[in-house]
Amino acid sequence: MPDPVKSPTILVIDDDAEIRYSLARVLSSRGYQVTEAASGEQGIAVVKKGPLPELVFLDVRMGGMSGIEALQHIRSANPKQLVILMTAFGTAQTAIEAMKYGAFDYVMKPFDPAKVLALAEKAMKAHADLRAVGDYKPTINIEDYREGIVGSSAVMQDVFKVIGQVTASDVTVMITGESGTGKELVARSIWKHSHRAGKPFIAVNCAAIPDNLIESELFGHEKGSFTGATGQRLGKFELCDGGTIFLDEIGDMALATQTKILRVLQTGEIQRVGGTETIKVDVRILAATNKDLEAMVKAKTFREDLYYRLNVVRIKMPALRERDDDVPQIVDFCLQNLVKQKKSRVSKVAPEAMAVLVRHRWPGNVRELENVIYRSAVVAQGDAILVKDLPAEILGADAAVVAGTAAERAPKSIESGTIGLEPVVPKTTGTSGEAGGASALTLDGALDLVFAQLQAGEPALLARVEREMISRMLAAEGGDEAMAAKRLGITKATLRKKVQRD
Ligand SMILES: Nc1ncnc2c1ncn2[C@@H]1O[C@H](COP(=O)(O)OP(=O)(O)OP(=O)(O)O)[C@@H](O)[C@H]1O
Ligand SMILES: [Mg+2]
Repeated sequence: MPDPVKSPTILVIDDDAEIRYSLARVLSSRGYQVTEAASGEQGIAVVKKGPLPELVFLDVRMGGMSGIEALQHIRSANPKQLVILMTAFGTAQTAIEAMKYGAFDYVMKPFDPAKVLALAEKAMKAHADLRAVGDYKPTINIEDYREGIVGSSAVMQDVFKVIGQVTASDVTVMITGESGTGKELVARSIWKHSHRAGKPFIAVNCAAIPDNLIESELFGHEKGSFTGATGQRLGKFELCDGGTIFLDEIGDMALATQTKILRVLQTGEIQRVGGTETIKVDVRILAATNKDLEAMVKAKTFREDLYYRLNVVRIKMPALRERDDDVPQIVDFCLQNLVKQKKSRVSKVAPEAMAVLVRHRWPGNVRELENVIYRSAVVAQGDAILVKDLPAEILGADAAVVAGTAAERAPKSIESGTIGLEPVVPKTTGTSGEAGGASALTLDGALDLVFAQLQAGEPALLARVEREMISRMLAAEGGDEAMAAKRLGITKATLRKKVQRD
């Protein structure tokens, strides 16, 4: 909101006096105070001297320093400064560079005054939101978390205690819990604190290795033991001698292999596939699963004797929603890590955004939270993550928040900047089951919202929905086209075609 005492200042940097003049006219018609600079160098000097303008309009192509260069200077001196670039050339390169160096948005010349004003208003709102975040006090300092396991809730304290208890011995530990709760992290922590820390830690994902290869992977094979076994090969158990093996997703291990693991546990001996020699190995076994092993034992798909051997000590990792007090700490941990690795300058979270994160149910647990923080930090334009920067699916879990912020969640691109989602109150679920509370935005509710927009005459939305889903899936899969296509249920060729069409 513009300050009632002092009207917000906008700095216009352009080497073309006519553009400066017309832009100043448009902006001052809304009460903004406009200052002008005729070059990148001059603009930087104005910003440096202060006081900082609320917003900068910056031309891309100027004699002397380019707009992109000036943008870099301005943003690195003050990551909070919002800058809108102006360009006569709507090329992909300009758009990509602009966003890469942290522009709030960009606007095409010749201007559409209405668009310029709408954009200025949006930026002012973001500016006010960023200022409101104020002095953010992080809940943790990453230097205190070398272990990488964050959380101070009672359930996590219990986990830490058990880790401490099992490090002194070689006892087998079974780590259970939903996907993304930190099972592997805990296994590594046990190893790091044990007397085996100087020896290898080898993680084997039993679900990722085909049944016919897993034995050779674990125990090795002799030359000629099967087609393709052209030489002798040592397995993980031999390679890991003296160390710790982490059998991840052990619920996916075939019964025949289970028998052999039982033998290692009982005798400390293995045989290579196709070999006759018995080899002594000194390996500690840690195992993890998110399957219900008890049910598998009953169904005879998991050996009961192995189950008891593995389950000497059990660590059950709590789901993140059972320890939502830990969410702010994990958020701060992720942000500080990003800043430390120089991957982001975002170090704060607006209180409203944090509240949404704490309320979310996190079916993908810490891994999902991590992913959401990385994505939000990428799109955040100031030094803080605001509600508008959170991915739609996270906001979708809270209808009140969505209704309250739908208008400000208007799309970021200039073409679609006029869509202006109406704050449609989405349908709520009648039940309060696992998938969300009574206020959860259902898929049907989201579809209603999209349909209402299409009916309101926004045909570009259909393509945008498809584009958004594809680009988000690509981001979620770290740019892996094959995996993204698989999860979207389309072929890689189709995905490529759709990406290229933009
Ligand atoms: N308590 C925690 N503090 C900080 N980061 C965590 C915590 N728990 C998990 N993570 C992070 O979340 C991600 C998932 O953790 P991890 O791979 O250990 O989970 P998992 O339970 O093995 O998941 P899956 O069942 O899918 O294999 C990792 O990037 C890990 O660093
Ligand atoms: Mg894992």
